[in-house]
Amino acid sequence: MKLCMIGTGYVGLVSGVCFSDLGNEVICVDRDLKKVENLKKGIIPIYEPGLEELVLKNYKNKRLKFSTNLKDSISKSDIIFICVGTPTLKNGNGADLSQIYDVVKKIRGSISKFKIIITKSTVPVTTGDEIQKIISQKVSKKLFSVVSNPEFLREGEAIRDFIYPDRVVIGTNDKKSNKILKNLYSPLISKGAKYVNTSRRAAELIKYASNAFLATKITFINELANLCEKINVNIEDISIGMGLDKRIGGRFLRAGPAYGGSCFPKDTKAITITADKFKTNLSVIKSVIKSNENRSSLLLKRVFEILNGKIMNKKICFLGVTFKANTDDMRDSSSLSMIPSLVKKGAKVNYFDPTGEKDNFKKLKNVNYSDNIKIAVKDSDLIIIHTEWNDFKSINFKKEVQNKKFIIFDMRNIYSPSKMKELKIKYFSVGS
Ligand SMILES: NC(=O)c1ccc[n+]([C@@H]2O[C@H](COP(=O)([O-])OP(=O)(O)OC[C@H]3O[C@@H](n4cnc5c(N)ncnc54)[C@H](O)[C@@H]3O)[C@@H](O)[C@H]2O)c1
Repeated sequence: MKLCMIGTGYVGLVSGVCFSDLGNEVICVDRDLKKVENLKKGIIPIYEPGLEELVLKNYKNKRLKFSTNLKDSISKSDIIFICVGTPTLKNGNGADLSQIYDVVKKIRGSISKFKIIITKSTVPVTTGDEIQKIISQKVSKKLFSVVSNPEFLREGEAIRDFIYPDRVVIGTNDKKSNKILKNLYSPLISKGAKYVNTSRRAAELIKYASNAFLATKITFINELANLCEKINVNIEDISIGMGLDKRIGGRFLRAGPAYGGSCFPKDTKAITITADKFKTNLSVIKSVIKSNENRSSLLLKRVFEILNGKIMNKKICFLGVTFKANTDDMRDSSSLSMIPSLVKKGAKVNYFDPTGEKDNFKKLKNVNYSDNIKIAVKDSDLIIIHTEWNDFKSINFKKEVQNKKFIIFDMRNIYSPSKMKELKIKYFSVGS
């Protein structure tokens, strides 16, 4: 099949590459000229394990193309996936759909034969209805079908998640589109993915409901971790004990920093705005948002306690600054609020991240990037393990840190408190 992915970011690039690897002809379009030029040279704009090899392979065999020409790419394709960003509005909590509608108006001007137009971007319920309305103002209804096909991949595991998803959700009542899309996804269905055909509105809501539920799980365990810290109980025992119950499940039940990234913060906010619009109060999700927004200041309070309130001139090392491991994505990472707060109080922050230096901190005084773990931790008073990269899981701190009175605050609970005690390392974790 001939596919066009509009927006070559985390979702558009990964799904475009994977679809091409499954034998389809795919054009990935982006308005960012530099990104497209780089991709044509084999330079990958994001860090995602396994992505580079797949891009190079499929670009070489010509099933995968990159372009900035939207009109031409649409006219050459049968199925158009909209994969542009839907960030939070600058002045509000709802989803900013300007990138979506901008693209839709361009698609509208380029339809001369039947096309399936799919929102893979996360869009609020009824957006598909609106897209349908906009296109039908200028194009016959017989020439297009608007379908919702939300994406559930996780950054850092994106290729695996795309090829082996738990489910493929297709929101359409149009039989013809459903048949074509079931066929497109048949290689994944034959490997065990469940195919779920729903109404378009239901598919749109499934995505938000799933993200809001996962964010709730994280926030739930984070709040229990606060209690564990007061009663001498280890939250890891609670996560295991609860997670083994199949009705609950252990994933997304690990205490740590505030949830971040490009999805949970914006999607939890957007779903409450949608519900408000329909005069329904999603009070659970609203309290999850509030609790998560408060999380970074709670962890900072703990940092002050660990340092006995003496933060001035303290050398603090951050291991990892992205919102989670195996991604370079800094969007809504809790380090973005924690690091500036610490330097404001007089700390000197050194950080290392396996995906390199971040522009976000370049202008901050007293924040330095070290390009390896050993240099980053060397002179530290306090080491904060902020993300759970494998690279951080077996550091010989006793050997690497010269300041013998160093302290570790492990925000991901990747080390064992009892082993740290044996090693006589002053160690704090979350929820114990
Ligand atoms: N990142 C994730 O893990 C993830 C997972 C599932 C769903 N989603 C959803 O998928 C959507 C995209 O997310 P992302 O993380 O890939 O975003 P992204 O910011 O990485 O990529 C979006 C791309 O769209 C391009 N773009 C914007 N307007 C365009 C236009 N008019 N023409 C061509 N290109 C245009 C941008 O240049 C950018 O490269 C969002 O709605 C997001 O909520 C993201």
